[in-house]
Amino acid sequence: MIELDFDGHGFRRDGAPHRIVSGALHYFRVHPDLWDDRLARLRALGVNTVDTYIPWNFHELPGGEVDFTGWRDIARFVRLAERHGLDVILRPGPYICAEWEFGGLPARLLAVDGIRLRSSDPAFLAAVDGWFDALVPELLPLLGSRGGPVVAVQVENEYGSYGNDAAYLAHLRDGLVARGVDCLLFTADGSEDFMQQGGAIPGLLATATFGSRAPERFEVLRRHQPQGPLAAMEFWIGWFDRIGEPHHVRDAKEAAASLDELLATGASVNLYMAHGGTSFGLWAGANHSGTGPDTAGFEPTTTSYDYDAPIGEAGELTEKFHTLRSVIGKYVPLPEGELPPLPPRLAPRRLDRATGRARLLDSLDALSAPVHRPAPEPMERLGQSLGLIHYRTRVPGPRPELPLRVDGIGDFAHVFADGRPLGVLDRNAPGRTLPLATGPAGVTLDILVEALGRANYGPQLADHKGIRRGVSHERQRLHGWEIRPLPLADLTPLTFHDTLDTADGDPAFHRFETDLDTPADTFVALPGWGRGLLWLNDFLLGRYTHEGPQRTLYAPAPLWRPGRNTLTVLELAHHGEFLDLRDEPDLGPTTRAPSADY
Ligand code: GLA
Repeated sequence: MIELDFDGHGFRRDGAPHRIVSGALHYFRVHPDLWDDRLARLRALGVNTVDTYIPWNFHELPGGEVDFTGWRDIARFVRLAERHGLDVILRPGPYICAEWEFGGLPARLLAVDGIRLRSSDPAFLAAVDGWFDALVPELLPLLGSRGGPVVAVQVENEYGSYGNDAAYLAHLRDGLVARGVDCLLFTADGSEDFMQQGGAIPGLLATATFGSRAPERFEVLRRHQPQGPLAAMEFWIGWFDRIGEPHHVRDAKEAAASLDELLATGASVNLYMAHGGTSFGLWAGANHSGTGPDTAGFEPTTTSYDYDAPIGEAGELTEKFHTLRSVIGKYVPLPEGELPPLPPRLAPRRLDRATGRARLLDSLDALSAPVHRPAPEPMERLGQSLGLIHYRTRVPGPRPELPLRVDGIGDFAHVFADGRPLGVLDRNAPGRTLPLATGPAGVTLDILVEALGRANYGPQLADHKGIRRGVSHERQRLHGWEIRPLPLADLTPLTFHDTLDTADGDPAFHRFETDLDTPADTFVALPGWGRGLLWLNDFLLGRYTHEGPQRTLYAPAPLWRPGRNTLTVLELAHHGEFLDLRDEPDLGPTTRAPSADY
């Protein structure tokens, strides 16, 4: 039994004065076979606690069932942490931000007309209650009061950056308590007065999130938490990356000095991130800095969540690991023993030709069954959460060249007339059109919409994917659509052809094969490829794009098999000829992380 609480001076753990020195590590961003390895590294950093969010949409499967097995076995993760001598802090949201698809909310919420997310709207609260009903019984045996390592649970996440609905926050707090969560509850908000005002919950410990200048930030927090412990629930020692912008790095010595300044105040800390890992599959989120869903300002996040963290994406103990460890060692005892060695990596090799190809437009019937609607619908209204979605209609003829417009694109629309690429429309260039003429027989218009991550931060959280509003030729709305959701959860129905070649702009799957004796970590580079998705065997590693910054996708050892392995690329723009397996990651050209000023 562990009890963490606090008095006017600070935290107490089982009655003794205590400082939380925590590191964030998200089990959902690390292959479950590597949880033990990464937790060992995290403990070696010197922290006494591990923090993780719990993403609702990762646990709620497309059919609605809530899953806590395999990669979703949060109890196993928590028990492993305990074995490494770590306390555990859980942050179950329901909203988590975290550069994670839709901030952890399930996409099905967007099919509910008029729902007010993150508020006391009864429709939202009912959904949250269902999630807590499923989740909390999993957590209860892990709590300190029942002999487990979970010492604290966060309510919502930086809510004050979004809203000020006190009834919503009270409902969350009461919902956790009523279901039996009896550990320390707290909130975490930015270190601005308005954020603390909106996000704090009377009676719960308020903490702060920031990346620098701890004494100043804690002065703000003190105005809202007049007594008791000061804690930086997120101290951003690196930063995430956005597609098309350089890779963020925060200088190791500067980050260590800033941590030293924080710990010298006597406060507690959670290093965000101690190990970032990977937003595998389609889980990377996005920011949206625009004023509406259809304005420019959509900024998708990369697949890598390396975060320039002290423990790199593939488990590397970086220079920052060592500088931070020295600082941590000044304040809490460091564990004894050798530091874990770098996990083995595969020798570089080139997969020099595709062994099969399949055009996406020829594979639609194999991958999806069509539904018919008078107007295009966003994917959430068809019960789809993630992936691509295909829309087809006939445009009659003859017609001279007139502008074709797609209103409300989430997020890239690849447009084809009679199967020939007409061009690509991008959500960040709203109002752009493509010229479309038709002959006497008219044309078949295909629009393949590629969804990137749903916004996880900011006011544009309700981020519908697919086509949100409609398609016009000149002023005429086009009707009579055949729509195929393409979640791409199963590629086995595809038929590959070994002689097929595909043209630029013709989306296709390209299959490569390679034999291995012993699986090990590798980094897949796609030189000369455009944009798309990459699977290893039947696992979707993530998105790649020539815009970078990341140039390799991390393919951890547990995803490889001894013997034959298949890499499948879905290329949407222009395909390359080969794939490279490398023994070093390449996260692209770097720039200074903004967190050093936040
Ligand atoms: C905030 C959020 C986190 C994460 C960081 C940036 O602090 O609470 O979930 O989004 O920003 O990495």
